[in-house]
Amino acid sequence: MPDHEWITHSAEETIRLGKELGARLKPPLLILLAGELGAGKTTLTKGLVTGLGAAREEDVTSPTFTLVHQYRNGARVYHIDLYRIADFRDFETLGVEDLFSEPAIVIVEWPDKMSMRSDWPQLRFELEHVDEDSRKLRVVDDAGILK
Ligand SMILES: Nc1ncnc2c1ncn2[C@@H]1O[C@H](COP(=O)(O)OP(=O)(O)OP(=O)(O)O)[C@@H](O)[C@H]1O
Ligand SMILES: [Mg+2]
Repeated sequence: MPDHEWITHSAEETIRLGKELGARLKPPLLILLAGELGAGKTTLTKGLVTGLGAAREEDVTSPTFTLVHQYRNGARVYHIDLYRIADFRDFETLGVEDLFSEPAIVIVEWPDKMSMRSDWPQLRFELEHVDEDSRKLRVVDDAGILK
């Protein structure tokens, strides 16, 4: 599945899609979630993390202020939000390099704020508003992870 597109019509539908995809993923993997405010990146992450079996849906919240959340119930999953990354010093305090020291699933919101140096396989999602309750989700899967 090199590229694929879905339209969801509710947050629940986006979570369900995340669950289905999450169940098919294994570490090491870098997942980039691009898209504007409220596009559904954290909502999709709830599904991905639940589908991976790493946490319960209600335990997956936005790491906007904490920058990194770790979910660990079996699979090791990190959820990073780079929205508030101001400068390189902030980035270093995240200890991002360390997150890549052992196989994990690393999920990154606002990935274009800072480039993540990693040679792990990568999935990039691009999320867009269609209307209030609908979102378009496109995945770029050059490595054929979802095929
Ligand atoms: N089809 C849909 N898919 C996902 N979220 C939806 C959908 N329809 C409505 N929503 C709502 O849109 C909002 C998406 O918020 P979410 O926190 O997931 O966005 P985000 O991309 O992580 O934003 P931010 O950049 O602020 O972190 C939620 O309030 C959710 O209920
Ligand atoms: Mg978010």
